[in-house]
Amino acid sequence: MIALGSDHGGYALKKEIAKHLDELGADYKDFGTYSEDSCDYPVYGEQVAKAVASGEFELGILVCGTGIGMSIAANKVKGIRAALCHDCFSAEYTRKHNNANILVLGGRVIGVGHALKIVDIFLSTDFEGGRHAKRIDLITKIEENN
Ligand code: RB5
Repeated sequence: MIALGSDHGGYALKKEIAKHLDELGADYKDFGTYSEDSCDYPVYGEQVAKAVASGEFELGILVCGTGIGMSIAANKVKGIRAALCHDCFSAEYTRKHNNANILVLGGRVIGVGHALKIVDIFLSTDFEGGRHAKRIDLITKIEENN
C-alpha cells in the first residue's frame, strides 16, 4: 500500500502518478492536496510521512514543485528516509542502500515519462540489507540522540 501526497506545485505530476498506479493495479491512498489551489507542502509531507512511519503504508510518494520542501518536511518524522530522486540510478540505489521509504519528486523539475520510470524503479527495488543495514541503524541512532 502506497501513501501519495503533493502540494499544488506537485499536483499535476501526482495525478499522473495516481493514473499510472491505477493502470498497474497498485493499491494507494491520496492524502491530498486535491486541487491546484495554493497550499502548504509541510501539511501533506507530514501526513504521508506519518502514514508510512506508522507502518500502515509500506512506501510513500511525495511531490512538490522542486521536491526539496517535501523532502525536508518528511525527513523530520522519525523513521522516515525520504529520498529526492530525479534519475533512475538514484531511485534504484536509494532503495538498495538507504532503504528509502518515501520517494520525493519535483513536479516542476522533470517530465512525466521520466518521473513514472523513477516511480517504477523505486517501487520494484528491494533493500539489500547486509552492510547497509548497519548504516540505517546508525541513522536511527541519530534520530534517537537528537
Ligand atoms: C510552491 O510554490 C513551492 O514552493 C513548493 O511546491 C516546493 O517547491 C517547495 O519546496
